Amino acid sequence: MLKLDLNGKRALVCGASQGIGAATARALAESGATVTLVSRSADRLAAVRDELPGTDHDVLALDLGSPDDLVENLDTIAGGGYHIFIHNSGGPPAGRAIDADPAEFEAGFHQHLIAGQRLAQALVPGMRQAGYGRIVNIISTSVKEPIPGLGVSNTVRGAVAAWAKTLSRELGPDGITVNNVLPGFTETPRLESLVAGKAGKQNASEDEVRASMLTQVPLGRFCKPEETAAAITFLCSPLAGYITGINLPVDGGRLGSL
Ligand SMILES: NC(=O)c1ccc[n+]([C@@H]2O[C@H](COP(=O)([O-])OP(=O)(O)OC[C@H]3O[C@@H](n4cnc5c(N)ncnc54)[C@H](OP(=O)(O)O)[C@@H]3O)[C@@H](O)[C@H]2O)c1
Repeated sequence: MLKLDLNGKRALVCGASQGIGAATARALAESGATVTLVSRSADRLAAVRDELPGTDHDVLALDLGSPDDLVENLDTIAGGGYHIFIHNSGGPPAGRAIDADPAEFEAGFHQHLIAGQRLAQALVPGMRQAGYGRIVNIISTSVKEPIPGLGVSNTVRGAVAAWAKTLSRELGPDGITVNNVLPGFTETPRLESLVAGKAGKQNASEDEVRASMLTQVPLGRFCKPEETAAAITFLCSPLAGYITGINLPVDGGRLGSL
């Protein structure tokens, strides 16, 4: 019988020092996986790691936006025998596309697309060998409906979604699934900074900004990171073995598109 059981599976979880990544590391560990937590901050990663059930979890501090940092760590990552890759990190800064410096696009592509490509190339051979592979990209509902005021993010996320769909077709014959989770308004430090930024621009209080955002959400509340992590964990499990190449919104029904 198929089960949500990840005992014996190893997971590399990026952006795991807070927010959706930290909640995902917890959910995967609670399902039995052994987790390596990745972000720039070794101290904050260790604090998350120390709270996980199980004893073999470790941390890897690196900057996904730095090609040098990534390349330096790729052999270690490739040798880790990972079955699960959670491709996640912080979103690009807000602002209109037309106002963004081209360097902001370049930085976004390095951190989100090229880092994902380097990591996938390091991890896929081990997944093939294990006969089990799950790649889950944490991107944004903007791949279905671009979000006003997130010009660089909209652009880079669209590229990641196209990359992921392409990979899902290429890696299907190896039994490796590739899916995207599209978070809606989720209660993490990223949401806090977006709310503060909007309040400043709109000359409104943060409470007013939050209330206005919630008018867009049929379920009428923000998402808890644990709820996003539950969807990600399902996609990583044997239960989701026939699901690949999808964009799964976890947005309380906010997206208007089919
Ligand atoms: N929260 C939302 O409402 C929402 C909505 C739509 C989409 N998303 C997207 O979903 C993803 C996760 O969201 P979140 O809210 O959990 O974000 P978050 O609270 O900002 O957390 C981002 C995580 O990524 C790590 N990180 C950032 N830059 C990094 C880098 N250059 N290299 C390595 N690690 C890096 C951060 O750790 P360090 O600082 O330790 O490196 C942190 O652990 C983001 O891409 C976000 O844009 C979020």
